[in-house]
This record gives sequence, structure tokens and C-alpha cells, in this order.
Amino acid sequence: MRFLGQQVQRLGEVDSTNAVARRLAESGAPEGTCVVAETQTAGQGRQGRVWHSPPGGLWVSVVLRPRSLGPPEVARLSLTAGVAAVEAIREVTGLVAMSKWPNDVVVSGKKVCGILAEGRWQGETVEFLVIGVGINVAIDLGGLPPEVRASAGALLEPDAPDAFAVRERLLSSLLGKLESHYQLLLSGGFSGILENARLYSDTLGREVVVTGQGAPIRGTAVDLDPDAALIVRAASGDVRVISGEVSVRAARGDSAG
Ligand code: BTN
Repeated sequence: MRFLGQQVQRLGEVDSTNAVARRLAESGAPEGTCVVAETQTAGQGRQGRVWHSPPGGLWVSVVLRPRSLGPPEVARLSLTAGVAAVEAIREVTGLVAMSKWPNDVVVSGKKVCGILAEGRWQGETVEFLVIGVGINVAIDLGGLPPEVRASAGALLEPDAPDAFAVRERLLSSLLGKLESHYQLLLSGGFSGILENARLYSDTLGREVVVTGQGAPIRGTAVDLDPDAALIVRAASGDVRVISGEVSVRAARGDSAG
């Protein structure tokens, strides 16, 4: 029986669904607790960035309590959530969603979904994880700050008549896929998820620059390793990237520039 989303808190405006889910987890909310909001006033992105969360998006966070996962495996879970988001968007909209390492989802090169995984630990033991997923379902891109708008996309126009129904179907599909992939991960089946992550990857095969880990790393993204790290073939040899921001320098098969 499905446990993810057995308890869904549907809220109007919140600071951040991740913050709400964290507070619930801290007060003992069970695994599978799910928080969905209409808008966020302080949506949190990776690397301390703001995540703009106007009406029309799917802003959702879930609480997980994976007692058997150690800190290194959280990167796997984060990649797994990205795979679930790609599959949910493909299934519900038919759009060719792709993943951009580590776990963004892009459609036609524009970011339509971001994922923020956070956790609280007691030594090597995880107390809880919060996986936050933001999908620009039918948001008004014109309302985003220009620097965000340049790279952001949405799945539908803001006035699309089916926006509400699509958002609900996406939520259901996402929770279902996240749950089944999570269970696969817990039972040692990450290799199958990794295979799909490679298939959906919009990063592999591209010339990239990785920033946020000291000196920028330039090279070709060649693989995802079994710990969900990105392998970049640089002039000095292969570099294993476990965090940072990846920007693509030139598209596969595109002319340079
Ligand atoms: C990123 O920087 O790409 C990650 C963005 C994650 C945004 C989602 S929206 C739902 C949840 N609540 C938050 O405050 N952040 C995540």
C-alpha cells in the first residue's frame, strides 16, 4: 500500500514547503508526510538560492525516514527524485523532459523543475530527510526576475484550462514514482535507477563547466558513477564531481558558440 502522500497537508501560502515539512518531521511526522502549497514566500533552492514560487506551480515536499541510508546514499536518493520527476512529467504531459545533473529537469533546455533534498543526522544515522520538488506547471514566467526567466520554462501557459488537473495528476504520478524508486533504492536496486538517469540525462555527452567546487572544471560530462557523481573528462584527466553547478558550453551536435 502506498505510504507517500497518505497524509497530505494542502496549504495556501507558506514560507517554504521544505521548511514546513522539516518542522513536521522534527515534531515526529511519519514517513510519507507530504506538504503541498499554492505559493511560497521564501521558497528555497539549492546552494542557498531563492526559488520563486508563484501560483500555478507544484510546490511539494515529502518526509522520508530511511534508517538504512548513510550520508553518501543521500546523493543517490536526490538523483532518484530527479528520475521520478522526469518520468512523472513525461507521463502526464508527454513532453520530452530530460534531467540536468544533479537533479534539475529541463524541457527544450529550459529548467521546469528543481529538487532540494535536506536531512537531519545523528552521526551517521539519518533522522529524517525532506525532499522538496518544485515544478513550474503553469506559472507566469514573465513574473520571474530576468536572470531566472532566461533559463526557466513552464509546462503549460499560465491560463491553460487544464492547469489544475495537470498539477493534480503530476502530484499523484510524482508521489507514486518517488515511492517505488525509493523502495527500489532501499532494497539495493539503484543500478536500474542509474541506468534511467543516464538515459534521461541532458548533461552526458556535453561540454560543461562545473563551478562551486573551487576552480572551475571544464571538460566533457561522460558518465554518472554508482554514487550519483558526475564524471567530467577534463584535459588533466577524469574528475568526479559530487556537488556544484553545471553549465553546458555547447549542445551535442551543435556548432560551437
Ligand atoms: C533548485 O535550486 O533547483 C531546487 C529548487 C527546489 C524548490 C522546491 S519547491 C518545493 C520545495 N520547497 C522549497 O522551499 N524548495 C523546494
